[in-house]
Amino acid sequence: MRNLWPKNLSFRDLSPTGQRRLFGFGMAGVAVVTAYWMFFSDGMPILIGPTARASEIATGRELFEREWAANDPEAHGDGLGPVFNATSCAACHFQGGLGGGGGVEHNATGFEVLPRPGDHEFRTGTVHGSATDPAYKESDARLRQLFPVVKGRTFRRANGDPHCEYTATVTIPDFDPLHTQSVQPTALFGAGWLDLISDRAILRNARNRGIGNTVRELKLEFDAIPVGRVRHVAGGVGKFGWKGQFSGLREFVAAACANELGLGTPDAEQARPLSAPDLTAEPDLDRKQFRALVAFVKTLPKPVEADGGDEAARGKELFREVGCAVCHVPNMGGVKGVYSDFLLYTLDDPPAPGGGGGGDDDYGVRQAPPQLNLPGRPEDEPKPGEWKTPPLWGVADSAPYLHDGKAPTLHAAILAHKGDAKAVTARFQALPAHDKAALLAFLGTLKAPPDAHPLRNPAVTRLVKDEPAGKKRPRKAG
Ligand code: HEC
Ligand code: HEC
Repeated sequence: MRNLWPKNLSFRDLSPTGQRRLFGFGMAGVAVVTAYWMFFSDGMPILIGPTARASEIATGRELFEREWAANDPEAHGDGLGPVFNATSCAACHFQGGLGGGGGVEHNATGFEVLPRPGDHEFRTGTVHGSATDPAYKESDARLRQLFPVVKGRTFRRANGDPHCEYTATVTIPDFDPLHTQSVQPTALFGAGWLDLISDRAILRNARNRGIGNTVRELKLEFDAIPVGRVRHVAGGVGKFGWKGQFSGLREFVAAACANELGLGTPDAEQARPLSAPDLTAEPDLDRKQFRALVAFVKTLPKPVEADGGDEAARGKELFREVGCAVCHVPNMGGVKGVYSDFLLYTLDDPPAPGGGGGGDDDYGVRQAPPQLNLPGRPEDEPKPGEWKTPPLWGVADSAPYLHDGKAPTLHAAILAHKGDAKAVTARFQALPAHDKAALLAFLGTLKAPPDAHPLRNPAVTRLVKDEPAGKKRPRKAG
């Protein structure tokens, strides 16, 4: 090949105009490459992952593993509680090493209350499993007491016409404003990388989905897979939590301290008991401790994609061909191998016509009877049946599956994809047995990081003492 750059000619041998031109071409080249990355790829690769000072990470690890007690000497406020779900972060985040997921026995119960007569606010919260004082003990029964079913009624109404009087019977059905949902502890591996994914990348992917690119390529019907909803929360796009309820890792860590352990931080007040909504205390963690805890969580190692041989490689292709990758987007915002689009979907089928809504169904038709004339669910609040596509990295080490852990195996998790994913599930089910096995083999390569820290004290994962052993805490109320 002819050498385009004359031998022995250096940048300095060029005339000033030549130098400027060459520099200009160089800059233009950089701009073109940058523009390409920004608009056409899944984002500039993030080369430098989350970092923090080693001493800070070490302090954070102590705090993550610490078994907190009421009036704990490490705390600046009242320590553990007044209401809490466990005594340490590690108690619920341990599968495959410190920071992993937890089993269903560690599920947390969230609740929502729709606007009701006399209280037009949409409320959400957590039913805590334990309390430092029996007076603060929370339960589904207590929750029900606070938010009872609004009794329906039937009455006769005159039509108000003096010439032709008749009465009509009007029935307003019972209305249950309360709904509870049980969610499993997610693995935190790579959480600092998720934190680096830009809102732009998520929004751009959603937009491209909207114009049908991905779906057309798979020869699916244009709207076979509806585009999920972006969840906008304070601070940006909701990336963390089963419902995308937080945009930043730091906020989630503050909420976890407050709700799971009853530890106040400079960022969030500790949870107040249902029965003592005015109870407050000084923050338990000071600024330095809180920063250290965030640093530890942020730098937890990232899950890995192990080499699963030819079968898994074929399974990875099928994962894309079948349409799983439409929602479980492999690379997002420059982070490789996350397998999520961070959008909300409904994977339940709509109820049969005439089946009535409301009640305890998770589909999302929960609403007050129109006759009560109440405000509805705020636009931005996910419906009960909406869940964020969870990142699949590390999934081989985080059984059981789905938000509530109802799927014991990866296969069961796939078959539970109905609603928005039903076209993809049908394609999966139409695969010959060896292809199904290959796809599952691929999921089996998505492992927890091999360099995860082991638990110093494995006993922390036991349930809190006042819970009868073996009994699952999460129950459905209402
Ligand atoms: C009682 C069990 C329990 C304890 C204790 C607990 N967590 Fe969690 N954690 C959960 C559950 C359940 C979820 C999923 C919640 C959701 O998405 O609604 C979760 C989710 C998270 C997430 C979000 C991860 C993601 O990618 O979406 C972070 C971060 C987190 N926990 C950090 C912590 C920290 C830090 C502590 C200690 C202060 C802690 N957790 C203590 C149960 C627990
Ligand atoms: C329409 C979007 C969509 C498609 C298509 C889709 N998923 Fe999912 N997937 C989700 C959502 C949303 C959840 C969480 C549902 C829940 O927790 O109830 C999920 C959950 C999962 C889980 C459980 C993860 C965990 O941590 O518990 C696995 C495994 C999974 N999907 C694999 C697949 C595979 C394999 C395919 C293709 C056959 C697929 N998904 C297609 C949206 C999708």
